[in-house]
Amino acid sequence: MKRIAILGAQWGDEGKGKVVDFLAKDMDVVARYSGGPNAGHTVIIGDKKYILHLIPSGILHPNTMNVMGNGMVVDPESLIKEMEELEKAGVSFQDNLLISESAHVIMPYHKKLDALNEKIRGSKQIGTTLRGIGPAYADKASRIGIRVGELLHPDILREKLAFNLKIKNAIIENFFGEKGFDLEELYENTLTWAEKIKGFVGNSVLFMREAISSGKSILYEGAQGTMLDIDHGTYPYVTSSNPTIGGILTGLGVPKDAVDTIVGVVKAYTTRVGGGPFPTEEKGSIGELLRNQGHEYGATTGRPRRCGWLDLVALKFASWINGMTHIAITKLDVLDGFDTIKVCVAYEIDGEITEEFPTNPVDFAKAKPIYKELPGWKTPVKGISRWEDLPKEAAGYVEFIAEATDTKILLVSTGAERNETVTLV
Ligand code: GDP
Ligand code: IMO
Ligand code: MG
Repeated sequence: MKRIAILGAQWGDEGKGKVVDFLAKDMDVVARYSGGPNAGHTVIIGDKKYILHLIPSGILHPNTMNVMGNGMVVDPESLIKEMEELEKAGVSFQDNLLISESAHVIMPYHKKLDALNEKIRGSKQIGTTLRGIGPAYADKASRIGIRVGELLHPDILREKLAFNLKIKNAIIENFFGEKGFDLEELYENTLTWAEKIKGFVGNSVLFMREAISSGKSILYEGAQGTMLDIDHGTYPYVTSSNPTIGGILTGLGVPKDAVDTIVGVVKAYTTRVGGGPFPTEEKGSIGELLRNQGHEYGATTGRPRRCGWLDLVALKFASWINGMTHIAITKLDVLDGFDTIKVCVAYEIDGEITEEFPTNPVDFAKAKPIYKELPGWKTPVKGISRWEDLPKEAAGYVEFIAEATDTKILLVSTGAERNETVTLV
């Protein structure tokens, strides 16, 4: 297992940060390939809690090189804040962080437009993280985006900012009736941000090529999750990138053989933040219990996460889309104490039963879950680190998921800390 992809198999927040940190100690490189500061990856080490948004979760291991790939969107303000927080916590990143010069920059106008776009959607809000993700990726696709490398060329930067502000200010002022951005002020601020990050900017495609050719071990850190994928997720209630497997190849410029193990991180139940259909959502006391036991509040926005049972229909789809070879089950301890545990094994859509995930959002919005009930376990699994110590019902639950998704079990997480982990491979 030299080149491992760690991907979210649900709607994000599966515990990718914990899994990446756990595996990163044996890795030469940890590389992010998509998304931006919409991600919130929590790593808990002893009494210290780190929440990483842009910087890969391998940063807590001093000998691991951390790459922010070309597929990402980078908000310099947010990046600098994250760097300052790491510095305060005594985490060094001076020699082990590389930011792709081809990654796109999130500008303040992207964040403003994210908020304004949400406002006009009214009851159909996506519930974005308001980090400017959608507008920044839209500019990338429209070929008017600013790349990180261009921050280091003041003349080009000024020209591109001037061009962009013409369009953005027209929309912000004329359509939304709000105050636009001042070119000089934005230009000066951007130069200040550029000064702080320029030492980390470089050719990440070349770096990855050399790492692969020299046989380095690589961990690809996914952000968001399969169901938030712009192509395969529950559109339009998705993010604007490809968190799924394909995003690795395009978001880092690596060939297909550069990934040999594909791990889907699966929370033992399901959560979702923001709008959009969620067939297994529990809106009553069970949802409340999961939220309380699992501390399900967003790591980026602090919003309460919507909670419900595991959705195997969606998970099997995620396994196919990503070619998952393994699963890492997290937060098994949160299910401690339930008499029985429900798992959605099929949907009922317009009176028809199906085990296939509908790719038409109109159908998915109508999906009602058909459940299978599995026995719960009455002893706590928190902190267990050996497979044979798991209660047989808990082990059975994990095996049931692996069998249904046709994957092997890589690890089971029984608590937020590094050592609260059962490894199987
Ligand atoms: P990510 O975005 O996929 O990295 O996940 P988040 O960090 O947003 O959310 C996962 C939350 O669950 C964090 O607060 C983690 O500290 C916590 N966590 C991770 N694994 C476990 C686990 O096995 N048990 C418990 N109780 N908490 C966990
Ligand atoms: P990690 O990496 C959970 C959700 C938002 C919203 C939708 C679009 O921590 O798992 P965006 O700001 O991306 O335009 O929002 O996607 N979302 C996430 N939900 N975890 C994440 O990241 C998410 N990143 C985006 O809540 O519904
Ligand atoms: Mg998160």
